[in-house]
Amino acid sequence: MSRPVSGVHVTGWGAYAPSRVLTNADLARMVDTNDEWIVSRTGISERRIAGPDETTASMAAVAGLRAIATAGLTPDDIDLILVGTLSPDYVMPSTAALVKDAIGNKRAAAMDLYAACSGFVYGYATATAYIASGMAKHVLVIGAETLSRYTDFSDRSTCILFGDGAGAAVLSASDEPGGTMGVEMTTDPSGAYLIWLPGGGSARPTTDSSFASGEHYMKMKGTETFKMAVRTLGSTALSSLKKAGIELSDIDLVVPHQANIRIIEALAKSLDFPMEKVFVNVARYGNTSAASVPLALAEAVAAGRVNRGDRLLFVAFGSGLTSGAITLEWTADPAAMARADGIGPESVKVLPGYLEPTNPFPPALEWLR
Ligand code: ACO
Repeated sequence: MSRPVSGVHVTGWGAYAPSRVLTNADLARMVDTNDEWIVSRTGISERRIAGPDETTASMAAVAGLRAIATAGLTPDDIDLILVGTLSPDYVMPSTAALVKDAIGNKRAAAMDLYAACSGFVYGYATATAYIASGMAKHVLVIGAETLSRYTDFSDRSTCILFGDGAGAAVLSASDEPGGTMGVEMTTDPSGAYLIWLPGGGSARPTTDSSFASGEHYMKMKGTETFKMAVRTLGSTALSSLKKAGIELSDIDLVVPHQANIRIIEALAKSLDFPMEKVFVNVARYGNTSAASVPLALAEAVAAGRVNRGDRLLFVAFGSGLTSGAITLEWTADPAAMARADGIGPESVKVLPGYLEPTNPFPPALEWLR
């Protein structure tokens, strides 16, 4: 895409984070680490853990319903549901299909997007294409993750980083000025195996030995990922701005993927952009992958950091290595989020499968259940 986008606006937003909190002190009782190391290397103090009755679809549905209510719409107004996730309820059916049922939508197409931590931004880009082409009027884009179920809580190099949660936005067609301006997506497979989950796919199906060696858990080469992340986030952000036809100095707030405060600070430094204009909530949620940008967006709006006419930049990177950035002019009334008051986990019910229910809670965190 080389020309600026127009006519695509964020009209709704919402988030959901589970209530269970796993602190650095809790982790220090489980692996050889400490609060000082984790905070100084990552900026993370605590993260949320989904309860045994929660899944990616259930959290996604709550965030999605909140976004729909904020937009002043009903579930059946949505034409397309996109769920960015690397931790779906099942390999099939899609989590988006379960979300469609859980929010009570009878007419949307629904599908998942596999772009790891860039999942929400990739979903936003996809929604933009559907709306700009006239194929959809209202698209629900969700990023949702239950990473605690793919985390090896005996591996101190990864278990300190990740958390669970969901965030969502409704994108709508509108002729009013502003809205989405520049969209950039990149994928660099030279880093494909820097962050990966080897087991359970068609290349390495689950066996007793793959299970015994922990192939069902996320693996990461942290230092290499860190370097590539800073480089890629910067170039992706600048490409998005160029497509939008504006300068970085025109941006009022950057909402970056919340992987690590040091990555975010290094990004700001490399772009010579002030940290005061960067929204950060990694301390309280850790890295929630695809949920991180929309969760941060919802908190930024609630905190009064986003106003009509502001120019925002969303930028993310993740396994793949994928990266994406969106430049937009915010046109919604921040106060509209009050319409979502009263929507919570009790507002949704995920269609059950026909096998006996199981306890999906991580055994290593049994004490937190
Ligand atoms: N507590 C204490 N010490 C630790 C811990 C821990 N939790 N983890 C690692 N260490 C040790 C290491 O063993 C190493 O010790 P050694 O020197 O004796 O070997 C030392 O600390 C330094 O380890 P490094 O890996 O070099 O530490 P670094 O400063 O690189 O920080 C970190 C590690 C936090 C993982 C960092 O590299 C990082 O954030 N990388 C990017 C991660 C990321 O953003 N991933 C995105 C995932 S996105 C997605 O798609 C899921």
